[in-house]
Amino acid sequence: MPVVDISSHAEEFNADPYPFYAKLRAAGPVHRIGSDSPDDAPYWLVVGHDEARQALTHPALLKDWRASGMHPGIEATAVNANMLESDPPHHTRLRRLVAREFTARRVEALRPRVRRITDELLDAMAARPERAADLIESFAFPLPMTVICELLGVPDLDREHFRRWSNEVVAPQSEAALGEAHVHLSGYLAELIEAKAHAPGEDLLSALIRTRDEDGDSLSPDELIGMAFLLLIAGHETTVNLIGNGVRALLAHPDQLAALRADYDGLIDGAVEEMLRYDGPVQNTTYRYSAEDVELGGVVIPAGVVVLVSLASADRDPARFAEPDVFDIRRAPQGHLAFGHGLHFCIGAPLARMEGRIAIRALLERFPDLAADPAGGPLAWLSGSLMRGVSRYPVRW
Ligand code: HEM
Repeated sequence: MPVVDISSHAEEFNADPYPFYAKLRAAGPVHRIGSDSPDDAPYWLVVGHDEARQALTHPALLKDWRASGMHPGIEATAVNANMLESDPPHHTRLRRLVAREFTARRVEALRPRVRRITDELLDAMAARPERAADLIESFAFPLPMTVICELLGVPDLDREHFRRWSNEVVAPQSEAALGEAHVHLSGYLAELIEAKAHAPGEDLLSALIRTRDEDGDSLSPDELIGMAFLLLIAGHETTVNLIGNGVRALLAHPDQLAALRADYDGLIDGAVEEMLRYDGPVQNTTYRYSAEDVELGGVVIPAGVVVLVSLASADRDPARFAEPDVFDIRRAPQGHLAFGHGLHFCIGAPLARMEGRIAIRALLERFPDLAADPAGGPLAWLSGSLMRGVSRYPVRW
């Protein structure tokens, strides 16, 4: 199979990858991606919706890279002892232990706090005399970051350091820098958990430290670090882009924005689902490894390679969604893959949905004339294959 090189169009691709995905889908459901650069490891990309679902439930597409023999240059640290880097039966065990504590009741209990944090951030924005701001810095980033820190019980997290390491994890500059970020994060979280163990609270991290299931099973110190790492990263690197991408879609489609403004109660839930489908935060899933030859949509992926599933492409597949490039907040986008599918389906989806609905509605209500602000400078697109969004989004009101 020929190798497709995306790197030569990197900037264009980051700004709008959808035309590239459309071309790939038209040529087939699975492709080999690579480039001449030694920094770009080649991988297989699944772009069709049906095939993406099959890949995400395929028993031979594994997550535990430590067992795969890949990345010989990276040493596993405690942060890697997490659910998203493990397979059954280990994954089953970790997921069961966290699911005991990360309950619907715990998420629901956060609702008033999410409202209050949202209002405080909007108050600060509204107080700006220039009536303009970077939406990411002033709203979309601090909201989920504050919420996940409160959920876990780490209100005084050193956010500047944490954000730098966490950015490195989701969009690594190099394998060496990624390894270094892992070491820093491991040490940092070990201290945090140690402190929490001595002064437990009502928060999720304290609950995870003391939880025991019916068989007396509990999380080991490394597993606690891995769990805290995964929840903190997954909890804020994603929801920021639901808000950013969602608001961008609305402001670019005035008819949809007007419809939503006219009927929040009736349309906000569906609008957020359509934002997830149309331009979701997770562009491609995390790495999977083929433990044996895997056939998807008539293509055989050989054993021993890296496989990514393009959620962004799957959710624009015309075989699954009519007129997939149309942003329509009244469509029924059920079955979108923005939160993944199968064993690793996002455990934070109810929290992310609650935050997205509250945040976007409150933002629009507070600023009835909210608009993009090209005078505030260009958008800064996220790079890398994992996330989809902007790190800078100037708006005015
Ligand atoms: C709009 C926001 C979010 C999106 C789009 C999203 C998306 C995803 C996706 C696509 C996966 C599966 C990745 C894969 O299979 O490779 C995933 C897994 C996960 N997400 Fe989220 N997520 C969001 C918010 C959150 C939040 C707020 C939390 C935590 C509070 C969270 C925690 C997790 C965890 C722990 C996993 C791993 C589950 C497992 O391995 O069993 N996510 N998420």
